[in-house]
Amino acid sequence: MLQEYLINPSFTQKVHKYTDCIIVGSGIAGLSTAIRLAENSNIKVKVFTKSSLSESTTWYAQGGIAAAIKKPDSWESHYKDTITAGQGLCDPKAVEILTKTAPEMIENLIEIGTNFDISEGEISLTIEGGHSFPRVLHAGGDATGEELEKKLLSYSKSMGRIKFFPDHFVLDVLVYKNSCAGIIVMDIKTRRIEIYPSSNIVIATGGIGQIYDLSTNPPISTGDGIAMAYRAGASIMDIEFIQFHPTVFKTKDSRLFLISEALRGEGAYLRDPGGNRFMVGKHPMAELAPRDVVVKEIMRVMDEFGTDFVYLDATHIPESYLKVRFPNIVSKLKENGLDLKKDLIKVSPAEHYLNGGIKTDYNGRANIKGLYSCGESAATGVHGANRLGSNSLMEGLVYGWKIYNDILKNIGKKRPESEIKAIEGTGKILEKSKTKKIKVKKSCGTPANIKNLIRELKTTMTKKAGIFRDAKRLKEAEEFVNFHINCDYLYNTKDLETLEFVNMLTVASLIIKAASLREESRGTHQRNDFPQKDDKNWKKHIILKKNKVYFKNV
Ligand code: SIN
Repeated sequence: MLQEYLINPSFTQKVHKYTDCIIVGSGIAGLSTAIRLAENSNIKVKVFTKSSLSESTTWYAQGGIAAAIKKPDSWESHYKDTITAGQGLCDPKAVEILTKTAPEMIENLIEIGTNFDISEGEISLTIEGGHSFPRVLHAGGDATGEELEKKLLSYSKSMGRIKFFPDHFVLDVLVYKNSCAGIIVMDIKTRRIEIYPSSNIVIATGGIGQIYDLSTNPPISTGDGIAMAYRAGASIMDIEFIQFHPTVFKTKDSRLFLISEALRGEGAYLRDPGGNRFMVGKHPMAELAPRDVVVKEIMRVMDEFGTDFVYLDATHIPESYLKVRFPNIVSKLKENGLDLKKDLIKVSPAEHYLNGGIKTDYNGRANIKGLYSCGESAATGVHGANRLGSNSLMEGLVYGWKIYNDILKNIGKKRPESEIKAIEGTGKILEKSKTKKIKVKKSCGTPANIKNLIRELKTTMTKKAGIFRDAKRLKEAEEFVNFHINCDYLYNTKDLETLEFVNMLTVASLIIKAASLREESRGTHQRNDFPQKDDKNWKKHIILKKNKVYFKNV
């Protein structure tokens, strides 16, 4: 049984005034939702993030953002490709909402000043794995996320109506009688513990990449939002489906750098260490097959050749084009002594994206009143067992927009009532936490070195719950997580790394649980001991909630 809170609310040093809406996370999903809400002048919005405002997964997105904006492409074709990539587990209505609304979202981005790349007077579109048409918009060549994040940030700051709280670590969502009452937060600079009451809380905290050895995600991606939602009683869905990106480059100083799928979209090949294009004949789309298919082939090739890489070859693409279209990739490789025009580039797969997360409905609502989620932390049903490339930035925008509509509708109706309830709720939670000691299951003796434990968790998850899984290794991973997760010294501390470690353990335990239950191979979930897709028994979602398991047929 997990603890209810990272830090007992009785540690609270200040309770702030009520806010209409709190957003946790400042990537595309969080910021676009905040902007829409703040544009309605009556709504007070606060945005919290544990890092600087621009430090988000959005910033690092290279490839682009998908929308069917030019004929003969259509939303129906985008819909079909998304459903195909999701391998039987997408929610068709959620996909329809995404693909139909996408072009309007692009217009909104242009209205706030986003500069998409233009060629011959029109928005330039590229193709990525699994897409039937070129429909991926990009900016700054391969710096799409950076352009989006910069424009969203400057626009949201210029509005003057959103309050930003960088360097604030949201510990937990406070829930009273199954309604949101607020958040409990640690100011990272002062280490003060404070409560912000609110009856509308949007979790947009992104991914979980830091629980693996290799990930394209930034260091902040420790699954905080999903872990706090789970502790609060939210349902978590499809968390066993973790997408690995096929082509990640290791720099001289052992950092990871994504080489966008768009490079393959523009014609680059994958070659085995013997020089052969191994994707040809393996899938009709060869290098542009859906990501899970490419990753599996790369793993097979690396195993066959005993290497930890395959080659990415762009030497046949004109140099002038590479420089304009992929300026960041070209310059990063140059820093590492490589020339994209002349050299074969060593790449391998790394964790990239969590398909599942906090289960939400078509309005972005979780199962707790007033709790919402959008972006990578959410499971809207759009991605199923495997996300179609460049659908994620768009998903954050579309479901942020749905959340905005829902909050607006509800705030109009019953603002004072929900305000009073949230304030009462935080009061009751505080009262209860002062009188009732939070039970911590296990006394684990002297605190262990957290950095070492984090390293151990990453290695365990990579080896035992990574790209290929089986019952034995999942059991071993479960034992590691269970041993640590209830240790007393991990809770009621103000050490940020320790608190993040609890969230990482929480997310890891959910992944292991769902991956152990799903006895089949589908999309990004591959079981060596159950190598086939099993539609008869497993065309369903696994939902985890407060140590309970539910199944939902598609
Ligand atoms: C990429 O540029 O390859 C990543 C795009 C994505 O994951 O959507």
